[in-house]
Amino acid sequence: MRKMSDSLAYRREGHRNILIITTKMQFKVIYVDETDSTNRWLRDYPAEGEAVVVVADYQTAGRGCGANKWESERGKNLTFSLLLHPELVPANEQFRITEWVSVALCETIEHYIYNKVEIKWPNDIYVENRKLCGILIENRLTGSCIKDSIIGIGLNVNQQTFRSDAPNPVSIRQLVGKDSDRDKLLADFLRQLGNVMELPDVSETYRQRLWRREGMHPFRDAEGEFCAKIAGVEADGHLVLEDSRGKERKYAFKEVEWILSFTN
Ligand code: BTN
Repeated sequence: MRKMSDSLAYRREGHRNILIITTKMQFKVIYVDETDSTNRWLRDYPAEGEAVVVVADYQTAGRGCGANKWESERGKNLTFSLLLHPELVPANEQFRITEWVSVALCETIEHYIYNKVEIKWPNDIYVENRKLCGILIENRLTGSCIKDSIIGIGLNVNQQTFRSDAPNPVSIRQLVGKDSDRDKLLADFLRQLGNVMELPDVSETYRQRLWRREGMHPFRDAEGEFCAKIAGVEADGHLVLEDSRGKERKYAFKEVEWILSFTN
């Protein structure tokens, strides 16, 4: 396990707002005890161009991708959303936000656990065959620009048992056998996000971190099940697969799903 330097101020201070200042960016962090969904909470927030983070101890209606719910025990995990204004990212390159956030999460979490942390396309954070973290990004566009981006993150930190029908959740607690400091984890992530946003080659780092990036694996699309290997991820986020007949297949999010086979 590697150790990060603690150059950053991180404190919960009850539930007041704090500022987390990294070398790259400044984040206004707002703690709330309970809300329906931190993504929904931020949508109504009157931000004035600043980067805002809202962290909830509990969400009554936490949202996953599509119609899914997000299960998180009160006070145990990190459920938060981040409002960014990525003016320099054109709307047709919005997948870069997914790359930034997924890479920064992997690089942060690897300091807390012993295992390799990978990205299950497009943006689930996986350890072996288990989901440690989910990301829900909602961009608001004005013309060809991104007005702002609401990035919701659910990271399983100290929860010991999961009750929902999510197929394969895991927490840092389950992986290392002890609790982690959620505030430090959040501060480490924000700092790492600032670093990653300056990388010239984040797309390459994202691709190197892909889960099941080598070999043939089972998938399901509208036509049925098939085996394929990852041939690439396009700049706009489409997944390119090469099936066992050598045929290339290209998918947007939700057009194809991984078939999870449990080996542990
Ligand atoms: C997924 O994998 O389905 C995405 C899960 C995203 C969950 C987070 S928790 C904080 C934020 N608020 C929400 O309602 N959802 C996201």
